Amino acid sequence: MDNPKKKYYLTTPIYYANSRPHVGSAYTTIVCDVIARYKRMCGFDVAYLTGTDEHGVNIERAAEKLGISPADLVDRNQQIFRDLWKLLGISYTDFVRTTEPRHAVAVQNLVRRTQRVSPDAIFKRKYEGRYCIYDNLYVSDTPEPADCQICGRPAELISEENYFFRLSAYQEKLLRLYQDQPDFVQPDFRLNEVKSFVESGLKDLSISRKTIKWGIPWPGDPEHVFYVWYDALTSYMSGIGFVDGETASKKDSERFKKFWPADVHMIGKEIIRFHAVYWPAFLMAAFPDKPLSDYMPGRIQAHGWLLFEQEKMSKSKGNVAYAEPIVKSLGNDALRYYLLREVVFGQDGNFSKDALITRYNADLANGLGNLSSRTLTMIENYCGGFVPAQTAVPSNLHEIAAATFHTKIRNSYDKFEFSDALTLLWGSVAITDKYLAEQKPWALAKDPAQKPRLEQVLYVAAESLRIVSVLAHPVIPDATQKIWEQLGQAGKIENTSMNDLQWGGLKPGTRIGKPDAVFPRADKKEIVERIETMENEIRNPGSAQPAARSAETAAPATATVAGAAASPGVAAKIGIEDFAKVELRAGVVKSAERIPGADKLLKLLVDIGDEVRQVLAGIALSYAPEDLVGRKVVIVTNLAPRKMRGLESNGMLLAASVGPDGKPVLCTFAEDVPAGAKVK
Ligand code: MSP
Repeated sequence: MDNPKKKYYLTTPIYYANSRPHVGSAYTTIVCDVIARYKRMCGFDVAYLTGTDEHGVNIERAAEKLGISPADLVDRNQQIFRDLWKLLGISYTDFVRTTEPRHAVAVQNLVRRTQRVSPDAIFKRKYEGRYCIYDNLYVSDTPEPADCQICGRPAELISEENYFFRLSAYQEKLLRLYQDQPDFVQPDFRLNEVKSFVESGLKDLSISRKTIKWGIPWPGDPEHVFYVWYDALTSYMSGIGFVDGETASKKDSERFKKFWPADVHMIGKEIIRFHAVYWPAFLMAAFPDKPLSDYMPGRIQAHGWLLFEQEKMSKSKGNVAYAEPIVKSLGNDALRYYLLREVVFGQDGNFSKDALITRYNADLANGLGNLSSRTLTMIENYCGGFVPAQTAVPSNLHEIAAATFHTKIRNSYDKFEFSDALTLLWGSVAITDKYLAEQKPWALAKDPAQKPRLEQVLYVAAESLRIVSVLAHPVIPDATQKIWEQLGQAGKIENTSMNDLQWGGLKPGTRIGKPDAVFPRADKKEIVERIETMENEIRNPGSAQPAARSAETAAPATATVAGAAASPGVAAKIGIEDFAKVELRAGVVKSAERIPGADKLLKLLVDIGDEVRQVLAGIALSYAPEDLVGRKVVIVTNLAPRKMRGLESNGMLLAASVGPDGKPVLCTFAEDVPAGAKVK
């Protein structure tokens, strides 16, 4: 009888389709892709689901701003997600959109089933409270003003008759789940947070909306649409074929039966409550008659955030980097490697272009790339292009040849300790490099009597290269496939089994392919310029100008104009008519204070002659608030107001951006000027 492959079902969160993805959203997807590729190489049949979250007020509002319909907006944006995943080599198997009919049917059927099998779980009640439309979160259950815990913005007042889910009835069951399945939430410290939240008491949860139109209608009561989180979470089922009714096709039902429940739901840390509390409770209510193992996900795995200038990278904060310019300038593997190597999985990590290019040059161009081209070129030149005969492994390379080496790397992948796996692998690149430097094959080649030694040295280097390529493949799929071909290996490297990987698998006599640089060295200045030019095109479509962040996406109030001038990326010129669009005035700082919880931001009141403006400026690390009062500044006065941490910023201060960290130095006047004077 056939021994069927074990299944593995992995999901990313489905991404809000109100805007395009940035490097932060790409991070979750890349991490899952590494896991999916790794699991396949370990012999699993993998379903990897991703998709887009397309309902809710934030989508409605984003569409309204652009003057298009929500349907057009999500159509457009979901394609941008798919295109990026293609560019990043994401090997997802399933993509779900919450506006698809198959998904709506699944959501409605899940609630119908719940009403049928757990009649007390859903009830109708009047709701009055505060709700954050950006994070789709109930902020408080009283009408008093309150700010969202996640984004800090003021939450909106909601008052309506809704369908509620009796979450309070699941407190004990959830606590038992955490006890019986101790790695249900990972890392452990997140499980503790979740437990304390549940122990502190659960409130029933409104799961429908009357005021919103853009959503899935409630079955039998179409005045209501589903709360976006009930809708979105169900995509983990609909995305692999859950229909639960007579409309289910055989193919869908089989796929669902095979892969459900999920082995891992990968998520960012801010959405843990939805996944570790609400989702298991929704499932318990829908399948009370089944054993937990039939329907409960194996694990909720939370990762940290990618930070940009110490804050979570997010479109609404305007501090995003985009993946496309990086991939188009340095290649897909560069970004994947950097994120997996630099960020300790589970913790927050900083994103910086400088560090990205430094890593690329050090580890990829000079490291693996150099080892590959040296080794292959020497095999071409000294061995006629054929893999030389295999001999014993030299003692200083035993570590790499031993099965324990593969096991260590696999353990790290299994524990999602990607940075450790890569550190070990690049350690072996360094050992092989050192071996070549000591053995000097180029010198051995000059003496025909040394031919056996020369062949041994080159076999060892080539085999080490093959092993590293297989083990690094989940992270850097493109380059490892190229190296694979250059080593003369047939087929796809992804079809190599990690289970059978052993030293000595490279067959002597194999004709190698044409050696070619897999990671050409990058000139930092040139690459930064290219990336910034492309980023600028994304932010201001149609403008070919490089330069720093646009007004819309600039950090709250400093440095962009001067920062642009200092940036090596600036090349194109703008006409005077473009410059004239920016209204600049002299201002006087009337007051300045820190904003609790924001390390970099100061809240300033600035007199601009005919009014006093509130401006948030990212200068708190360079200026004490008391030193700013009375100071003359230059302010951009015609920027659209933006909200940060729940506060409005109505203008932007100009500052030079100095040194590698971009320290802001405020622009001022050497002579006296009145507040409100135009700056031209
Ligand atoms: N639509 C919900 C998820 C519903 S899942 C049933 C959502 N969408 S999101 O677009 O805001 O976020 C999707 C994922 O991207 C989350 O895991 C989030 O943590 C991740 N990231 C968004 N910005 C990020 C960073 N700056 N860093 C790391 N991950 C980030 O929440």
